[in-house]
Amino acid sequence: MARPVRLGLAGFGTVGQGLASILADSADWIERRLGRPVQVVAVAVRDASKARPVPVPERARVVADPLELAAAEDVDIVVELMGGLSKAYDLIRLALAAGKHVVTANKHLLAEKGEELFALAAQKGVGLYYEASVCGGIPIVQTLKESLAGNRILAVTGILNGTSNFILSRMTKKGLSYAEALKKAQKKGFAEADPTFDVEGIDAAHKLILLIRLAYGQDFPLSALPVTGITRITPLDIAYAREFGCEVKLIGQTKAVNGKVMAAVHPMLLSKSYLLAQVNGAFNAVRVVGDAVGAVMLYGQGAGGRATGSAVLADIMALARDGSAPNNTGFPEKILPPADILPHDEEASRRYFRFTVEDKPGVLAAIAKALGDAGISIYQVVQKVDPDTQDESIVPIVVMTHTARQRDVEAALATIRAFPFVKAEPMHMRVL
Ligand code: NAP
Ligand code: HSE
Repeated sequence: MARPVRLGLAGFGTVGQGLASILADSADWIERRLGRPVQVVAVAVRDASKARPVPVPERARVVADPLELAAAEDVDIVVELMGGLSKAYDLIRLALAAGKHVVTANKHLLAEKGEELFALAAQKGVGLYYEASVCGGIPIVQTLKESLAGNRILAVTGILNGTSNFILSRMTKKGLSYAEALKKAQKKGFAEADPTFDVEGIDAAHKLILLIRLAYGQDFPLSALPVTGITRITPLDIAYAREFGCEVKLIGQTKAVNGKVMAAVHPMLLSKSYLLAQVNGAFNAVRVVGDAVGAVMLYGQGAGGRATGSAVLADIMALARDGSAPNNTGFPEKILPPADILPHDEEASRRYFRFTVEDKPGVLAAIAKALGDAGISIYQVVQKVDPDTQDESIVPIVVMTHTARQRDVEAALATIRAFPFVKAEPMHMRVL
């Protein structure tokens, strides 16, 4: 029998158990495709006595210190499925330095420390693979790295976080409040350990940083990425969006604009006719536009043990196949150049505004003038009493605009916020 590929698994939670269950169910199939078996030789967990729905593979030893896996002579590939920053960082660094391949699902770590870790992997000539880090089971990393390698990528637009999409879908389809929908998402187990990462757009931002590297071969610092979450979106915004024929989605987007990289995570209004607008529940989807291929769309489960385990296993199998040098970022440079970033205030898109104002003469005219003075052209206006309101003298005025630059939006908002008849912080979203 050919020598097995020996894995050291750091973490045996949702994803670790998902991977183990696929390895158990499909051992023959995997061996046939790879030409040798895949064997888990060691598993690191915090609490070895914890009952787990999927058992630790039979012959694997259980260790308390994941760093042992980096030094273990019987481990060929270290698989990091713990999450978090510090221990995972130490483990991956040590494993790469020891000349071992690493597979990880840890988007947070790669968004923060990818530059350093990819450089170390390149220096050591080993693989640092991360398909599961972006949209769980959807093979978007491989698609950008290999399948679309000959394309100049014009745009990548995606629903990158299942929890926030689930919340927005429940608010839209079942009329739940934001808080009720979040509670349901947590119960279903999609949310990160800290759900603020999901609802504040941070998890989507981590994934987008990885996608920018793959699409443009440039390192975009997480700190330079504009990020807005979904916490300020109300059922009223969703209802108004629907009046305009749109759905509200948390969108991560990067595109090439005049040779510069634009990237952001924001809730956006999408025409209901777009495929992305029809992605509901905890599902993820990514739309890539290449100059040669045109638009390509991937859709599937962005979270869950077996779906994410499927992506982890694909990386393990890719690294276990002999003969080719590891391809970590899709580009040959050891260190990617810094991104040439489109200044945030030059970014332009159509906008949705909801202003909470006193219902009295001159209010609409003053708002229209403030927008006009900032060079923003109005497309449509709606004013309707909020059915849930206690006070009918305060009304929402909802405005959709033509394309507006961020700097002009900020100027208009500064003027409008100062009007005495404006009774709450204006809500605004981009329209895709
Ligand atoms: P999880 O269910 O919380 O499991 C984490 C595992 O790591 C547990 O087995 C835990 O041990 C172990 N662990 C944590 N810190 C440790 C330490 N210091 N020493 C030893 N073991 C340690 O997490 P998960 O949902 O599987 O996520 C794992 C990674 O995959 C994260 O980076 C996450 O962002 C990413 N990811 C998850 C999904 C998903 O659907 N869940 C999808 C895509 C990517 P105990 O079991 O003893 O506590
Ligand atoms: N919390 C993440 C999500 C899990 O909701 O999409 C997968 O990364």
